[in-house]
Amino acid sequence: MRNSRITGIGRHVPDRVITNFDLEKMMDTSDEWIRERTGIQTRHWVREGDTLSGLAYNATMKALDMAGKKPGEIQFIIFASLASDHEFPGGGCFLQKKLGIPGVPAMDIRNACSGFVYGLSVADQFIKTGMYDTILLVGAEIQSTSLDLTTRGRDVSVIFGDGAGAAVITPTEKEEKGVLTTHLHADGTFADKLWADAPSVNDNPRISKALVETDRIYPKMEGRFVFKHAVTRFPEVIHEALAAAGYTKDDLDLVIPHQANRRITEAVAHQLQLGMDKVYSNIERYGNTTAASIPIAISEAVEQGLIKENSLVCLASFGAGFTWASALIRW
Ligand code: COA
Repeated sequence: MRNSRITGIGRHVPDRVITNFDLEKMMDTSDEWIRERTGIQTRHWVREGDTLSGLAYNATMKALDMAGKKPGEIQFIIFASLASDHEFPGGGCFLQKKLGIPGVPAMDIRNACSGFVYGLSVADQFIKTGMYDTILLVGAEIQSTSLDLTTRGRDVSVIFGDGAGAAVITPTEKEEKGVLTTHLHADGTFADKLWADAPSVNDNPRISKALVETDRIYPKMEGRFVFKHAVTRFPEVIHEALAAAGYTKDDLDLVIPHQANRRITEAVAHQLQLGMDKVYSNIERYGNTTAASIPIAISEAVEQGLIKENSLVCLASFGAGFTWASALIRW
């Protein structure tokens, strides 16, 4: 039996930084409200000409560099994102084209904030069975172009940012190393608590002039409802991973939760009785970058020396669907 390991990790965010003060000029909000309720101070938003596959490509090249691999060595692409460069096909195909590796399979995962952990679990299975030896897993998101930047959409619009993170995943024969266990969950009962209603295939025609004048095309969220579920599901799925691998929270070197909101991260730390030095947070600089948030955070934590050889790291996510997931990794 072999395990899968992340041997390369990289991130890329657009260079356009949007402060809370910039948002004050677009809608009725304030730096104070945003910082107090979410912890966010800045986020990166794309400019004209940036593409989702472009962000993903830049993150990928950094991850490949760390892994000491070339694009031609990738055998499988898993692309986690709510979006794609175009309505279809999926973003994995656009990334594959940029990488110049035709013929390599590309699979998209649309599990919002849980996309990266879902993708890691899929990659882990393919490595374990011996099907592939080098898998590229990307979490990438452009949210800024979908937002309602008026006061009507302020609860959602101040939260989200754009970015990409990529991981190169390869096998290890050491059974105590790498991805030790993964746990995936979903509950579609709450799909409409965090979603974009339209465009919907249930509308005929799917897109009309009348539709674009409604607010159905914008992401919507019942913030308090999402918050309550998140602070329950995060600790639950972390405990599930620890129990499956025979560890306790005291064995953890670092928890990397999906960066949804600083208050959610603090609540998770509190419930796990872990200090904030053990629970990674960078939401103040990026906002919520959906599928990109976990790989961006891993990449920073590795760079900062918070994750090193043999560190026990738990990834945990919660987001639209609802979906939630965890992965326990011995680095
Ligand atoms: N700026 C200023 N005021 C805002 C605002 C903004 N950007 N967004 C909402 N408000 C207002 C509301 O209109 C409301 O005003 P009212 O009391 O006059 O009606 C007030 O602030 C409180 O709104 P509420 O939604 O109850 O605030 P909250 O304390 O629940 O905080 C969130 C809102 C979104 C920050 C919070 O619910 C949250 O973090 N939810 C989880 C979100 C999340 O993590 N989503 C992603 C999951 S992957």
